[in-house]
Amino acid sequence: MKILIINGPNLNMTGKREPEIYGSETLDDINAQIKAYAEKKKCSALFFQSNCEGAIIDAIQGFDGDGIILNAGAYTHYSYAISDALKMKKCKKVEVHMSNVFAREDFRSKSVLSPVVDGVICGFGKDSYMLAIDAVIGR
Ligand code: DQA
Repeated sequence: MKILIINGPNLNMTGKREPEIYGSETLDDINAQIKAYAEKKKCSALFFQSNCEGAIIDAIQGFDGDGIILNAGAYTHYSYAISDALKMKKCKKVEVHMSNVFAREDFRSKSVLSPVVDGVICGFGKDSYMLAIDAVIGR
């Protein structure tokens, strides 16, 4: 199985940015652990990060594989363009957040992506991504 893990704006700063919320490991550290986890599950994980909405849309449109795991950062809460791009995709789609977005500011409780994905995993730190790999694979 081929799975694309997309991280959106400011997630490249993971490790430095609000470590009490997002932890002190860098995105590269986390991606290395996701890659190892995916390999253990006989999947190949591809990684993409961008701070730009259009680049994230291009990555979604251009992907040909089994599953997309997307942490769209703050775009989650208002990007109808990313929502439209996801809507067109027929593969398994999982929205991911490291933090529990429902336990934070009100604006984070609203996702315009949730209605167009198969499911949402949030609140488990970097493990949210590993749980999303399991969700793509299924039982
Ligand atoms: C986030 C939650 C978003 O609200 C925030 O804008 C992020 C990270 C998370 O992983 O918890 O950038 O998606």
